[in-house]
Amino acid sequence: MIQHEMASFRHTHSKIIEGLDNHVLAAFIFVAADPCIVNLGPGYPDLPPPAYIKEGLVEAARVDRLNQYTRGFGHPSLVKALSQVYGKVYDRCIDPFKEILVTVGAYGSLFSTMHGLVEEGDEKSVNKASLTSADWVLDPDELASKFNSKTKAIIINTPNNPVGKVFTREELQVIADLCTKYDMLCFSDEVYEWMVYKGHEHIKIATFPGMWERTITIGSAGKTFSVTGWKLGWSIGPEHLVRHLQTVMQNTLFTCPTPLQEAIAQGLVREYSVMGSPDCYFSSLAVELEEKRDRLATILQSTGMSPVIPEGGYFIITDVTALNTDLSQMGDDDAYDYKFVKWMIQEKKLAAIPVSAFCGVDSKKEFEKYVRFCFIKQKKTLRGVSVAQPAEH
Ligand SMILES: Cc1ncc(COP(=O)(O)O)c(C=O)c1O
Repeated sequence: MIQHEMASFRHTHSKIIEGLDNHVLAAFIFVAADPCIVNLGPGYPDLPPPAYIKEGLVEAARVDRLNQYTRGFGHPSLVKALSQVYGKVYDRCIDPFKEILVTVGAYGSLFSTMHGLVEEGDEKSVNKASLTSADWVLDPDELASKFNSKTKAIIINTPNNPVGKVFTREELQVIADLCTKYDMLCFSDEVYEWMVYKGHEHIKIATFPGMWERTITIGSAGKTFSVTGWKLGWSIGPEHLVRHLQTVMQNTLFTCPTPLQEAIAQGLVREYSVMGSPDCYFSSLAVELEEKRDRLATILQSTGMSPVIPEGGYFIITDVTALNTDLSQMGDDDAYDYKFVKWMIQEKKLAAIPVSAFCGVDSKKEFEKYVRFCFIKQKKTLRGVSVAQPAEH
């Protein structure tokens, strides 16, 4: 007989997922299905990816052998193309087979990095803790106060999501000095590495003296080529670290989809041949995005919001408190930014993401006045924002 009474069911969740069941993107993603809503919440383009990337996938699928499993740590043509492109960026020879791991998106890289190198209970520091909204500058003393000889690693993200900050050479030097002082690892999430705007420069911390041997740098094909649905990413670092990430991959997902890897490989080969010229997608996308950034910032300012102009990435965060919106109908339980976003969806048919969702408990309060909009969108989508203006002036 089937037992329908679940009250005494003895199987529950594992400890590792305790408290992780509410995710902000899941909570706000439902609006994507409503065509009346201009959805600038989730971070994906509604622009078409480059035609040659899509064609590359079609071509790859035509080759029978490319529809089968490939090398687990990364399809050979992809790791070779990555080693060429990043060899140029790092100005060092990168071993395609020992110093690169291809994973399911940048998140797969973060997963294999954490599982391969960090022990439960190890101390880690996430750099956003030391940025304050007063000036968005890294506070070296505050940051230094978070480290001691037991700290295992620092996780950094530049260009930063959601703030849009691109860490300067001086700030990265402070981080690098702490890493060497305390013999720490550095996990550097650089998925928005090519999306950097005038007056700013993306610098890889792994290129600082003494940092290559202790840094895993994480990249994303989805962000690089505007194909977030392809979920391919990579970790680059020294063999003595990358091999532990490879062990995680080998014992979990084993391999990533072959045709997608082949298409990205061909795309990278193409970009490599034009790198540094305006025809390179890495540069042309940034130019296109800078215009979109400015357009969205102007729209937001015209509604009375105070956007923080991003130096990189494709998000803009904005202070919404000056609007003095009456949120009394939105309930009392949520943080201000959550209530504001719910109100904006309901009343203005415009969706964004509350910024406090990205914060730890100690910094939530400070960031509650901000919401995040994604601007890697077609002109017509951004035009939709002006009709859906979220404020009565
Ligand atoms: C900072 C950052 N890292 C990683 C990711 C995930 O990238 P992927 O889709 O390649 O897993 C995102 C996606 O939004 C991101 O913003």
